[in-house]
Amino acid sequence: MAAHPSPLSEQVALITGAGRGIGRAVALRLAQAGAKTVLAARTEQELQDTAHSIQDQGGEALSVPTDLQQDEQVTTLIEKTLARYERIDILVNNAGGGPPRTPIVKSRLTDWESVLRVNLFAAMSLTKHVLPAMIERRHGTIIMLGSTASLSGRAGEAAYAASKFGLRGFTQALFEEVRRYGIKVSLLCPGSVETALIPYNKRLNREKLLSPDDVAEAAYHIATASPRACPAEVILQPQFEPFT
Ligand SMILES: NC(=O)c1ccc[n+]([C@@H]2O[C@H](COP(=O)([O-])OP(=O)(O)OC[C@H]3O[C@@H](n4cnc5c(N)ncnc54)[C@H](OP(=O)(O)O)[C@@H]3O)[C@@H](O)[C@H]2O)c1
Repeated sequence: MAAHPSPLSEQVALITGAGRGIGRAVALRLAQAGAKTVLAARTEQELQDTAHSIQDQGGEALSVPTDLQQDEQVTTLIEKTLARYERIDILVNNAGGGPPRTPIVKSRLTDWESVLRVNLFAAMSLTKHVLPAMIERRHGTIIMLGSTASLSGRAGEAAYAASKFGLRGFTQALFEEVRRYGIKVSLLCPGSVETALIPYNKRLNREKLLSPDDVAEAAYHIATASPRACPAEVILQPQFEPFT
């Protein structure tokens, strides 16, 4: 039997960091599957570009410029989403990044603080905002962009690893709290992906990196998994070793 062409029609997906890279690809993929999308990030022009790409392929997108480090902007993002669509079915906590590789002794506390604010705290806060309505409706999907850095720490990336390990712990606890309501919770952990986050390096063959579309496809599969199955942790490695 042919698969349903719009398995996410009538669903509303809020994707953070949707202006470029993985978030943009996830937004496009979920929109292609029929979801109405809400796009958040700081750079308005990039959000508009993603929104236009979604609209060009017949989808629906609302851009909400948001700095996730600011609590009141997180609240406004939720309010604007509900004002337009009245519900949030899929939350993709994707926005994130980290400072360039720096040893702990040379790191700045302000850099650590902003990595933890965006990669971890904003994801926790947005989850807390969307959860009551998901519980009431016994329906919802929350996808967290972890990383292979959620599984092992690397030198020079201590704060990034702390944020992604923290996200893993939060996600596991969240799943145990809400699985009984039919809410899917998933930590999606890609290895290196060809985005602006990965700096240029002579030893790195970028053609062997994952593409943002590879990660978006995994997010799509999580969002459309059987109601009985939750892909609680998905590790996506580049097939071929990208470092020469
Ligand atoms: N690339 C990889 O190899 C890789 C591997 C594993 C996991 N990940 C994870 O995947 C996620 C996306 O990364 P990416 O590679 O796609 O990076 P990217 O291309 O740099 O995109 C990051 C997105 O997050 C947004 N963002 C950053 N700070 C923000 C803030 N304070 N408020 C709102 N939005 C903010 C950015 O928009 P603005 O700057 O406009 O705000 C941008 O849209 C991150 O969580 C990252 O840790 C990436």
